[in-house]
Amino acid sequence: MARERSWQDVIAITDLLKGDVTPVTFGSRELAIFDTIQGITVSMARCTHGAANLCDGYFDGVNIECPLHQGLFDARSGEALAAPARVKLRMIEARERNGMVQIYI
Ligand code: FES
Repeated sequence: MARERSWQDVIAITDLLKGDVTPVTFGSRELAIFDTIQGITVSMARCTHGAANLCDGYFDGVNIECPLHQGLFDARSGEALAAPARVKLRMIEARERNGMVQIYI
């Protein structure tokens, strides 16, 4: 039987890099936590094109550029915006509660 999903604390909001992307290891998952101009979003940190960690890329508050081949993703929706990235990022439902970033997994 599958484990029930629930909200889990990931990181304190005060520990996030302001206006930037913060790498967080959560269990076996490598996450990218984006402090976007429209709020906090969370995705898997690995680029969907190859073996790069997006947390090492350039983030402008909206889009994250992969450090390896400069594929571009919208950090709010996960949409792939520029080649060679074609596959959307895997976004994880997130919210802010009690000073923490939480994800629903
Ligand atoms: S690994 Fe990210 S664009 Fe190629």
